[in-house]
Order: sequence, then structure tokens, then C-alpha cells
Amino acid sequence: MTSASRAIAVFDSGVGGLTVFRALRRRLPHESLVYFGDTAHVPYGTKSAETVRRLTRAHLAFLSRRRVKCAVVACNTASAVALDGAALDRTLNGHGPAVPIIGVIEPGVRMALARTRSGRIGVLGTSTTIASGAYQRRLAAAGGVRVTARACPLFVPLIEAGWADHPVARRIAAEYVAPLKAARVDTVILGCTHYPLIKPVLGRVLGRGVELVDSAEAVEMEVERILAGRGLLCRTGSGHDTFFLTDTGGTFPEIARRFLGSPIRRLVRVDTGVDTVRDAVRA
Ligand code: DGL
Repeated sequence: MTSASRAIAVFDSGVGGLTVFRALRRRLPHESLVYFGDTAHVPYGTKSAETVRRLTRAHLAFLSRRRVKCAVVACNTASAVALDGAALDRTLNGHGPAVPIIGVIEPGVRMALARTRSGRIGVLGTSTTIASGAYQRRLAAAGGVRVTARACPLFVPLIEAGWADHPVARRIAAEYVAPLKAARVDTVILGCTHYPLIKPVLGRVLGRGVELVDSAEAVEMEVERILAGRGLLCRTGSGHDTFFLTDTGGTFPEIARRFLGSPIRRLVRVDTGVDTVRDAVRA
């Protein structure tokens, strides 16, 4: 198999990364995509940085052993807490050739900086993403930027329940964005895989003139740019999709159908060995 014909991996804590998967599938129709959802451990957004780092590292090592040509960490929480350390690169490089790992934070930050006119930028994300300060640090490093960040822990369950356009979602969104409105932000980073699905509601409560930066959109361009730069883009044929989950018993298929607009055919349950130590302790 040539390097270019290898698959692109999309890693997420669960179903939310399908927003990135969908964006990549549309932009790069010739590529084969491997989706990995850690459905046995979702949600990441309420877990400690240490746990998210441990899970992300184990699953990315699994994906690199499948000889993917790059790994996209679609999960904002995992990108925020697990992509800073050198330990992760060593884990991946330990298994064959170095695999480029593309997180969602940098592309989202770049897009927000390109779009803001006032330098007042808002960030919405899970509790762990916002507490990590990953977006805030990178935005502040650009200089001349004022960041207002807000954790929105109720959005993920609401969206997964199919309530993204329910009046309750609108009430909650209005509460969450109140500090961003008070800070008169002109650009808001949707720093979570799920938030593209609540974009219409956020657009309404934030009002006209506020740019919404969708990290799925930002990362699809980054993936294309990086692969083209390395001569790894697939330019012919039609790619195929594989879905790996750490738990296939839950609501993934039903939510995935809503996220993608079509059913997923083949789900494969995988065990990346991440629970071995804990299970041994329990036994
Ligand atoms: N994928 C997560 C993120 O983008 C949201 C869901 C979760 O909390 O695991 O931060």
C-alpha cells in the first residue's frame, strides 16, 4: 500500500467527531477514513486532564499501529489537554513511521484571529477544555486580543438528545453567551465537536455581526494543507469508511444517523488495552 492510499484517522471521545468526519468526507472524497470513537469512556469534557491524556495516548497508539497516514484529533478536549506534551509524540513514533497528528485548537485559533476585527474573541467549550486554558493561551500569544471563555457543560447532552433547536437549548445558550455579549466579542470559537450542530441557536442569541468559527471547518482545511505538503493526498478512486468504537452497545448508531444524515453500516468494537490495569485491580 502506498503512503498516499493509507487512511486518515479521525479520533474522538464518542459521536461528536462525526462533524469533523463529515467535513473531511465532503472535502476529500478520494480518501479512506477511519473513525475512532471512545464510546466506552465518553464524555471526556468532564474528566480530568490526566485521564483524557491517558485515554488519548492509548487510542492514538492503536491508530498508528493501523498505519494511518495522519491522525486528526477531532475532540477539542483531547486536543486541548493531550497534544501539548512530547510524551504523546514519542508514543506514536514508537510504532513505525511518525504519524502527523492534527488537533483542532491551532486551526480554530488561526481562523478566529483571521476573522476578528475588534480583537475581542469568545471561546465556548467543555469544562475540561476551558479549564485547560489551551485556547486562551494560544489566542493571547497573538497579542492585542481579549478572550472571554465559557464552559457549556449542558450543550453536549442536549445535542445528543436531539434538542439542539428546543426552546430549552435557546434559554441555556442565552445564559452561556451572556458574558461573551457583555464583552462585545465579534468572533466566537465553537470549541467542541458538537457545537456546529447548535450553530443556528448560537447565531440567534449572539446576534448579527458575530462570526462563529467552526473547528470542523477549520481542521478540514488544515488536513488538506498538511497532506498536500507531504505529497500524501489521494487524488483518484473513492475512499471507504471504517468505524471503530470501544463500546458498540449504546446510542452511537442512532445519534450518528442524525449527525451524518445517513446510517452507518459497519461498526467494529475494539479494545486498545486502556482498561487492562483498572480491570485487573477490580478483579
Ligand atoms: N468531543 C468532546 C469535545 O469536543 C465533546 C464530548 C465529550 O465531552 O467527550 O470536547
